[in-house]
Amino acid sequence: MTLREKKAGHRLLWLDSVGSTNDIARELALAGGEEGTIVLAREQTAGRGSKGRSWVSATDLGLYLSMILRPRIAPDKAAVLTLGAAVAVTETIKDEFNIDADIKWPNDVLIRNRKVCGILVESAIERESVLYAILGIGVNLTQHFFPVEIAESATSLLIECNREIGVHEFLPPLLKRLDRWCLNETAPEGILDRYRLLSSYANGCEINVTQGTEGTTFEGITRGLTASGALIVETSSGEVKTLFSGEVTKIRAKGESRI
Ligand code: BTN
Repeated sequence: MTLREKKAGHRLLWLDSVGSTNDIARELALAGGEEGTIVLAREQTAGRGSKGRSWVSATDLGLYLSMILRPRIAPDKAAVLTLGAAVAVTETIKDEFNIDADIKWPNDVLIRNRKVCGILVESAIERESVLYAILGIGVNLTQHFFPVEIAESATSLLIECNREIGVHEFLPPLLKRLDRWCLNETAPEGILDRYRLLSSYANGCEINVTQGTEGTTFEGITRGLTASGALIVETSSGEVKTLFSGEVTKIRAKGESRI
């Protein structure tokens, strides 16, 4: 290990049942907890998803993990952290378990177009710096079934490879990649380069976008990512938009027929 290297999970708190691991990690961060400190739980009773949704977190069926980050990057580059976490999870699934996976912008990890992992980063920003960020990762590991609302859109590693991959097997290779992409890769460009290779959404993908509380929609083709991880989309009328948020649905990938 070189001197500059930081370790994901050098302090690891493994709990039975919590509301949300992100809340426990935030308390630790506020009390001065070091970067790389990880909170894991066997179940969450109030698991949080993005856009105010909940994250189904039944006992021992998934990985529910939160890590403290203390990034030295400007708040407008903080979104890249989420992309780094998506890269870490996707590489773990592909390289360690030989399952094909994709990243739906910004940070949903998909297998066969179904969501296997969600990432929620909650940051504390003061003036021009990020005081700390809590990186929350939920991976569906051994679920056979999902609640009816997400039954069509979610999947687990068990469903995809017909083998039980538990937290103890998934965690070590994930930590290795969280080290690399979330703690030791200081240049956002490095994360973005890797992301572009792993995500079929990043360039040349025909998508539908839903934005805002009113749910306005438009269609377009993705034209890459900005230096802060925003998605560039050329609309059907030729206008080029930069998306910082929004729900993206694939119509077809580069070179694919309409799905
Ligand atoms: C999403 O909706 O895609 C984000 C889901 C994030 C879920 C994880 S599970 C561990 C951590 N604790 C939470 O309450 N949420 C995140």
